[in-house]
Amino acid sequence: MKLIFATNNKNKVEEIKHLTHHKFEILTLQEVGIDIDIPEPHDTLEANATEKSTTIYKLTNEAVFSEDTGLEVAALNGAPGVKSARYAGEGRNMQDNIDKLLHELKDKPSRAAQFRTVASLIINGTEYQFEGICKGHITTTQDGTSGFGYDPVFIPEGSDITFANMDVTEKNKYSHRKKAVQQLIDFLNDYQPTI
Ligand code: IMP
Repeated sequence: MKLIFATNNKNKVEEIKHLTHHKFEILTLQEVGIDIDIPEPHDTLEANATEKSTTIYKLTNEAVFSEDTGLEVAALNGAPGVKSARYAGEGRNMQDNIDKLLHELKDKPSRAAQFRTVASLIINGTEYQFEGICKGHITTTQDGTSGFGYDPVFIPEGSDITFANMDVTEKNKYSHRKKAVQQLIDFLNDYQPTI
């Protein structure tokens, strides 16, 4: 079965291709010849995930999934959350985002945080959503060079190193994205189309 992953983020594709079962062939937007910047205009991860999968479903009419992820920090009332990519401004500069996060947390007693992923699957015209959460905390300094985004400042519960010090297989033992997409794969394994 072919499944289009509606993202232009190569790191996300690598993480997901590590998970998938032989039953599914995951195709990237590049592999299906789509070159667009998918909009993320909404105030919730759920609505943005729907927007991404719907945009690509309308173009292809094929089974498609997308995901939207946010870093939710308790001491910042859930920020940066859905605004994680643009936390320090519209430039989406990741170093600026990390610098702002470390600055905002400087005097906070709690550094508890979680990544939350909402995956949206559209198959035969119906949407299904799946959520994955990874709890952990924000470090005081950046550490590691693997991965992407906030990985250098996030240590998941059960580990003592940042995501940016893990390879993809190890990150997937904890990952929010893995948890959401694994549910999606389990769903598809049992899926019986209604005709
Ligand atoms: P989006 O899901 O691509 O919109 O991601 C929102 C923001 O969270 C971006 O700044 C990403 O770099 C960051 N982000 C998403 N997933 C992860 C992750 O697994 N680790 C670290 N940062 C992430």
